[in-house]
Amino acid sequence: MSTNIFLIFAVLSTVSVALAKVANFKKCDEGDMCDVSQVRIEPCSNPKKCLLKKGATSAISFDYTPKFSSDKVLTGLFWASDAGDVPFPDLEKANACEFTTCPLEAEKQNRLDYSLVLGKKLPNGIFEIKWKIWNEDNTTENCCFVAKIELRK
Ligand SMILES: *[C@@H]1O[C@H](CO)[C@@H](O)[C@H](O)[C@H]1NC(C)=O
Repeated sequence: MSTNIFLIFAVLSTVSVALAKVANFKKCDEGDMCDVSQVRIEPCSNPKKCLLKKGATSAISFDYTPKFSSDKVLTGLFWASDAGDVPFPDLEKANACEFTTCPLEAEKQNRLDYSLVLGKKLPNGIFEIKWKIWNEDNTTENCCFVAKIELRK
């Protein structure tokens, strides 16, 4: 019995690792206080533009090394539109420490993990998303990258 449960668990975690793909990303214009080394998005069959399904769970995880230390860290997800950054309602100014190891230490690699169920009311289309982590006391101290996703039903 317990062996079976373990087996099922092992299969499930293999599937989720297989779906999480390294996605292409680029640095934000404003971020020079941090090195982002890898971004993983799940699901993602095309690293240039991960296709995410509305109404389903998506996950994002990335590795970064801040050049600053902070124990009050905020995070937010934005749509980097031509007219400016539009915050994602569920994650506008969240406590980053819920998703990453705090305090942030300068020159120490860290990881942030986030997953969410994408709302069915979100628009369809291709979007450039911007992920940002910043020191609450000094927004110049931030980590930031952009990646391309496609939302579909
Ligand atoms: C904010 O951080 C930058 C970079 O570390 C630093 O140069 C600047 O002095 C800081 N500003 C304040 C008000 O602490």
